[in-house]
Amino acid sequence: MSDSLISRIDALRQQRQAVILAHNYTVGEVQDVADFVGDSLELARRAATVEAAVIVFCGVYFMAETAKILNPKSMVLMPDTNAGCPMADMATAEAVRAKKAEHPGCAVVCYVNTTAAVKAESDICCTSGNAPAIVRSLPKDRPILFVPDRNLGSWTAEQTGRELILWDGYCPTHERILPMLVKEARRQHPQALVVAHPECPPAVRELADHLASTAGILAFCRQTDHDQFIIATEEGLLHRLRLENPGKTFYPANARMTCPNMKRASLEKILWCLEDLRGQVEVDPATAERARQAIQRMFLVVP
Ligand code: 13P
Ligand code: SF4
Repeated sequence: MSDSLISRIDALRQQRQAVILAHNYTVGEVQDVADFVGDSLELARRAATVEAAVIVFCGVYFMAETAKILNPKSMVLMPDTNAGCPMADMATAEAVRAKKAEHPGCAVVCYVNTTAAVKAESDICCTSGNAPAIVRSLPKDRPILFVPDRNLGSWTAEQTGRELILWDGYCPTHERILPMLVKEARRQHPQALVVAHPECPPAVRELADHLASTAGILAFCRQTDHDQFIIATEEGLLHRLRLENPGKTFYPANARMTCPNMKRASLEKILWCLEDLRGQVEVDPATAERARQAIQRMFLVVP
């Protein structure tokens, strides 16, 4: 069944001049059919430069919006437009404007996990792969409002020695990775290194041997001589980790590290959106223009 689905996707991908981009957290068979799999930063870079009539974006809504903002000429489709990000929804443009008014003159650094409307209110965007570099690029005497992830924000503050005004948002999937679960995994696998995403809460970060974005976790596990790892991030990353490192062993830190939104894209839904071009993502041009500036400023600091 999945073979015939894949051959129908392949035929339509060619016919529509489409590329399929997938985030590291999507289900394994979606990653396997994609032309490119990556973290948020890599996907944004790829979306900006790819030449394709159609981009099928398998991930969550803010990522597809970012792809459309960076590549307005391509049609951007999502296999399931209900794939939102609860953390992105924790900051609205209106609330960000109100917070800016409380801190006149502050620079707003927005994590890429935000709506286009929030990016439009921001000075510069960042991802988990470059947040410290983005913060370091801002004048030392300028207050910084960091939106919306309090965990990535507090980690960035530690890394840079800068005091940041933190939004009170968080990722529910990473928030479920409790320190006691990481300690228990470590007790069961004492030889394993704990590798975590900076969206994890501070008490989990303290237990980690290495912290990085999903692309950074892949690079670290590939390059090190260690061969056992406890992974503290969304479980979709284990698919690529195991595929790329057949001789190494990966243990999830928690059995419930699933982001339901990242699991919404499926082979069937990819086929359906290629068949009838359903799931088109549009961003209002005025909002897109302002959001693009915040994203492009990020690329100026970290190309
Ligand atoms: P990265 O892939 O940039 O590490 O992001 C993780 C994430 O939660 C995306 O929603
Ligand atoms: Fe949002 Fe967390 Fe899911 Fe990433 S893993 S899309 S931050 S809810």
